[in-house]
Amino acid sequence: MKKLWNVSLAAALLVGGVSVYAEDDEMEHARPMQSKPLSKQDQSAAALYKKECSACHMAYQPEFLPKRSWDKTMKGLDNHFGTDATMDTVDSNTVQNYLMTYASKNDRITDMRGAVALRISQTPHFVKEHRKISKKMITQPAVKSIANCNACHTKAEVGSYREREINIPNYGRWE
Ligand code: HEC
Ligand code: HEC
Repeated sequence: MKKLWNVSLAAALLVGGVSVYAEDDEMEHARPMQSKPLSKQDQSAAALYKKECSACHMAYQPEFLPKRSWDKTMKGLDNHFGTDATMDTVDSNTVQNYLMTYASKNDRITDMRGAVALRISQTPHFVKEHRKISKKMITQPAVKSIANCNACHTKAEVGSYREREINIPNYGRWE
């Protein structure tokens, strides 16, 4: 797995000096979502983001996608993967602002076809990283979708994706 992340990605995912992804184990990108103290304003924005965007799935760390991805997502909430995820305008602006502030600095992250990525799970590096996971592990009821990061990454919600924290339901730890 060590060589999978290219340099641009590893560099691009550096936010505030802490990395979501890492090239190897000693660097295992533990990035608690709030590893450095956020300003009061960002704290309340983060809380609002969590409240509004974790009703149907976990609140994905903004660092996984670049600004244009979040921009497109926020503009299309009325038809968000087949659901209506709209919220009031003031809240929506606050959430968008929060996502943009902490977005990946790598604007070259796209989806598999080179278009603006709306899914983390359809970015080339993600796909590469998860290529060894069988369909059965994903479609089983305890996981359902590869977008359910926290089904396997036990600390995903706090932004930590270390290998030793992976536990695939009914399969166990990833060695
Ligand atoms: C009403 C339910 C609902 C709400 C609220 C919601 N989402 Fe989603 N979201 C979904 C569904 C459904 C999917 C597709 C999940 C799947 O494929 O398993 C999804 C997928 C996503 C994905 C892609 C995940 C991946 O990598 O495959 C992102 C990013 C995302 N949502 C961001 C947001 C943001 C940001 C908000 C808040 C503004 C939000 N969602 C609020 C229902 C919701
Ligand atoms: C079915 C279980 C499963 C789901 C769901 C899943 N992952 Fe993973 N993920 C894994 C496994 C297993 C690995 C390690 C793959 C390897 O090393 O070959 C991994 C690796 C990773 C890594 C790299 C870890 C490292 O040490 O370099 C990141 C980051 C990551 N996943 C993020 C996510 C995100 C974000 C989501 C949701 C959008 C997600 N994963 C969904 C199982 C899962």
